[in-house]
Amino acid sequence: MGTPILVTGGTGTLGRQVVPLLRDAGREVRVLSRRAREPQDGVEYVVGDVLKDEGVEAALDGIETVLHLAGGYKGDDVATRNLAQAAARAGVRHLVLISVIGADRMPQRFLKMQLDAERAVIDSGVPWTTLRAAQFHDLVLKLVRMMAKSPVVPAPRGLRLQPVDPRDVAELALGEPAGLVPDLAGPEVYELSELTRGYLRARGKRRPMLPFRIPGKSGRAYRDGDNLTLEGATLGSRTWEAFLAERVGQAGEQKANGRVAPGSA
Ligand SMILES: NC(=O)c1ccc[n+]([C@@H]2O[C@H](COP(=O)([O-])OP(=O)(O)OC[C@H]3O[C@@H](n4cnc5c(N)ncnc54)[C@H](OP(=O)(O)O)[C@@H]3O)[C@@H](O)[C@H]2O)c1
Repeated sequence: MGTPILVTGGTGTLGRQVVPLLRDAGREVRVLSRRAREPQDGVEYVVGDVLKDEGVEAALDGIETVLHLAGGYKGDDVATRNLAQAAARAGVRHLVLISVIGADRMPQRFLKMQLDAERAVIDSGVPWTTLRAAQFHDLVLKLVRMMAKSPVVPAPRGLRLQPVDPRDVAELALGEPAGLVPDLAGPEVYELSELTRGYLRARGKRRPMLPFRIPGKSGRAYRDGDNLTLEGATLGSRTWEAFLAERVGQAGEQKANGRVAPGSA
């Protein structure tokens, strides 16, 4: 069984999918969360905050591998530095970071913060693996759901995404430190408007689209595909259509039959 794997962000969108896979692989899992939780399905929960640097040292007690999935829109660089430095002090043997494709190229502050988080891992001296991933299906679903609420759906021209299944992430925590591994991207590249249209179709809805040009440096970077990895990526096998069929199609059918589960799709 080995020592437990500490998963920060194990309660998040990505973490909720990855933790059961680690359990299936026979590993003990300890999840660090800002809120106290009862142990469940063989998973232990410890309270801590990587940004405030609280409870991190205790969470690392007896840990050899850390899978760092905690994140937000602010302070990921500081949070990762706190965690990485504590991991070095605790003698951790493998720190796995999930970053974002384009962290080294895109001009947005969020992506620069991801690059700083990557550097914090390297600087810590803990043996590491960093994966830059494309947007996970669930994140893209959140985005298109939000856009689809608008009576006229914004359709930024040239903004392409490679939505990907996050399940491969678990493998990294089970392997040896590997440095910067090939990016993980979905099997297809889509314009954001195509992704939104696919979602609307799965819901049996139609909306007019309003194409527009993203201004400035960000717009240019997206149109140049700096947020994509078109060559040399590890490709996830599950397409956006397959994901929609599983997650949204069924709810769409329920709706057609007048049975919509609360909060579905
Ligand atoms: N989603 C994507 O498409 C994508 C793509 C590439 C990379 N990533 C990276 O993958 C990671 C996870 O993404 P996600 O979509 O799963 O995020 P999410 O659903 O927003 O979950 C974030 C998790 O982080 C934890 N967290 C936030 N702030 C924390 C803090 N200060 N201390 C401790 N825990 C904290 C939360 O746990 P509690 O609320 O329980 O404390 C929550 O479980 C992020 O680092 C993100 O940058 C995501």
